[in-house]
Amino acid sequence: MRIGFAITGAGHLLNESVQVAEKLAENHEVTIFLSGAAEEVLKMYGLYERVARLTGGKYRELATDSNQKFSFPITGRFSLGKYDLLIVSPATANTVSKIVYGIADSLVTNVVAQAGKGAVKTFMVPVDIHPGPVDTVLPSKVEKDKCQNCDDCVASLACPEGAIIPHDEIDLTKCVGCGQCRNTCPYDAISEGKIITIYMRDIDIENTRKLSEIDDIQIFEHPHDILDNL
Ligand SMILES: Cc1cc2nc3c(=O)[nH]c(=O)nc-3n(C[C@H](O)[C@H](O)[C@H](O)COP(=O)(O)O)c2cc1C
Repeated sequence: MRIGFAITGAGHLLNESVQVAEKLAENHEVTIFLSGAAEEVLKMYGLYERVARLTGGKYRELATDSNQKFSFPITGRFSLGKYDLLIVSPATANTVSKIVYGIADSLVTNVVAQAGKGAVKTFMVPVDIHPGPVDTVLPSKVEKDKCQNCDDCVASLACPEGAIIPHDEIDLTKCVGCGQCRNTCPYDAISEGKIITIYMRDIDIENTRKLSEIDDIQIFEHPHDILDNL
């Protein structure tokens, strides 16, 4: 099969989505589509290189908001029937809301719009699906209760991106999730993959419900469910 795999900027279910993309790329032609936020968030969680490694060659491109300019020409392949399936996983509340209201102003919202016009089946994993609390995973973080305010912060000196503001926080716009800071700090003051509870907003749940009513879009709770439904 030829599959478009779109990733948006959600930390929730991101690692699991990358695992599914990797699995599919073993036996299918997979083109990766990244929103601008996905590019950043994948780096924060140390997952960007794994995605980039899947790409290379015709129909295995890495399409991004920046390399597709403003009209997203690569998405026209979907209206021309060049793909068998589009997957969007994870899908942020932002991208879901835009799709529900017919907005196509980014690479991922355009690829969904063109898949709709080309009657290409679309599988989506919206992160905001059930009301109430959800446990989600954070990127690297300075734990101030463990930080000893060292004069020379070895974690910040070890960071190749200059992303650590000593004794304070990590500038996630610079972080590439390499883990050097965590491995270096003798006080274990940098956490990675910490689980926190967040609460779903009614408006996002309602948008996911509307998404599920769109023809040719099928929604799944978990990226792994996609493999069972191919
Ligand atoms: C570390 C991090 C994790 C995030 N996780 C989520 C998430 O799980 N769900 C979500 O809807 N937005 C999340 N966001 C916010 C989105 O990245 C942001 O709304 C962005 O504008 C979405 O753009 P996109 O829909 O084009 O990818 C996260 C942002 C950061 C920095």
